[in-house]
Amino acid sequence: MIKIGLIDSGIGGFSILNAFLAAPPLNRTQFIYIADSGHLPYGVKSDAYIHERMERLTAELLSRKIDALVIACNTATAVSAEKLREKYPDLIIIGIEPAIKLAATATKSGHIAVAATLSTLHSERLKSLKERFAKAQTLHKIIGSEWVDLVEKQKLTLADNQKILEETLKPLFQYPIDQLVLGCTHFPFLMPALKALLPKEITIIDPANAIVQECY
Ligand code: DGL
Repeated sequence: MIKIGLIDSGIGGFSILNAFLAAPPLNRTQFIYIADSGHLPYGVKSDAYIHERMERLTAELLSRKIDALVIACNTATAVSAEKLREKYPDLIIIGIEPAIKLAATATKSGHIAVAATLSTLHSERLKSLKERFAKAQTLHKIIGSEWVDLVEKQKLTLADNQKILEETLKPLFQYPIDQLVLGCTHFPFLMPALKALLPKEITIIDPANAIVQECY
């Protein structure tokens, strides 16, 4: 029996768990999912706060004998993945992070966008992804911190959230952006609303499937 632990601040990590469950069955695998809802949202908290939560929750999962940890949260990956790898060198740790490389490879206009929490957008991790994989492209940052709350409250349709989505997505109507990276695991639940709002020339990248493939 292989045990995989997943952590997110809330229900966003289910977009990753769903991709695992939709993939061909992993042999005798058990998933343990922690939604840290009492401490949500992570995306507007300090690095110290987020890391303290990640240390506690990882310790909890280790006490339940997990073989691998999936940080199903871009914000927590950016803050904590490297520190947790240093602390637990024998634990397999997979961190979800914005698919900047995929967007940079696919763009024709040279303008890509990433929607993420404030914490992810300000992170060294995102800076490094941009420098490594999208040096020649212009990266537009979409602050989606408020979207987390929409998803937690299950306000998922365009009718529910058109005003707030239009406001935050303004750059997509001002620049020739053709790739939008969903850099927060909550955001794939807004996919139908985003697709209804954005021109079809804009590809919306949900990295969940690519990440699951990596685990096989
Ligand atoms: N789901 C988390 C992510 O992928 C963020 C949600 C939050 O702000 O707590 O970044």
